[in-house]
Amino acid sequence: MNSLPTAKAGDDAGIAAIADLLICPGCSSSLAIGSTSIDCKKCGASYPLNDGIALLAIRGTSETWGKPQANEQSTSYQAEYQRVDRAAAYNLSYRQRLLKRQSTQREFQLIKQHVERVGRSRIILDLPCGGSRLTPAFAYAAELVIEADIAHGQLLFGRAESSVATPRVWMTASAFHIPLRDNGVDGTICVRLSHHLPTAAERERLLTELLRVSRRFVIMTFFDHYSLKNLLRRLRGPFNRLPPKMTMTTARVAEFAREHGARLIAAPPLSRIGSGHRYALIAKDQGIV
Ligand SMILES: C[S@@+](CC[C@H](N)C(=O)[O-])C[C@H]1O[C@@H](n2cnc3c(N)ncnc32)[C@H](O)[C@@H]1O
Ligand SMILES: [Zn+2]
Repeated sequence: MNSLPTAKAGDDAGIAAIADLLICPGCSSSLAIGSTSIDCKKCGASYPLNDGIALLAIRGTSETWGKPQANEQSTSYQAEYQRVDRAAAYNLSYRQRLLKRQSTQREFQLIKQHVERVGRSRIILDLPCGGSRLTPAFAYAAELVIEADIAHGQLLFGRAESSVATPRVWMTASAFHIPLRDNGVDGTICVRLSHHLPTAAERERLLTELLRVSRRFVIMTFFDHYSLKNLLRRLRGPFNRLPPKMTMTTARVAEFAREHGARLIAAPPLSRIGSGHRYALIAKDQGIV
């Protein structure tokens, strides 16, 4: 796909729908929404509005939050789906390949199971939304969905190719600098990002930001260090020279949640054999059990 897909206007709520939640990703101050840009009242940063998509992403990793730069970071991964043809290839592979289609079905089940446990939401943030592959699994349980990804190409693809009945707002955003107020959304869904983050500093920054903006819950996937898939990869490592996976343990996710006043409620595996991903439900709201 070389030309840009055009937006389907149907469910587009427009960025003004979340005007009172937006903050500057650079300095956390209030933002003023104009006709072509969104401007920070304090630091003067100006973020373009491109065909209804707010471009609020700050690129970069630990150097952008004052931690030393590590040798290996996720910087290049942030650039991977900026182009819509790259985003299209990623998303179409999930539609066309049988194993990926089956995996998506199971992911729908796991998300629905968690969403039904937390009950109805006013606003759910989907970050990173990619091409909105998973949105139908939770959009029915919210009044408004915020679709956000660091890659503009993913948003263009998702806006053109997906549709749900729930109104949506579209913005580029880094999960390391989410441009939303503390507790601004009811919950956040963060699927298939943490295992692309090579350092513990990045993974923990991600979880800190998700918990900061979410008032009640976070659903986040991580690649389980003790999964069969990772065990086999570690055993084969010396022979096939594949790099180790970027993993977390369930115990570390639970401990991290506790350190932030939240609880790990459940972390079912996507598959015991074929995948190492787990779908963690982390609750801040004491009413979620
Ligand atoms: C494997 S895709 C998953 C997308 C979607 N959740 C899904 O499961 O289909 C990971 C996405 O993370 C985005 N991404 C990479 N680094 C990011 C960051 N720091 N903040 C937000 N999104 C990021 C990429 O552009 C990509 O769309
Ligand atoms: Zn600012």
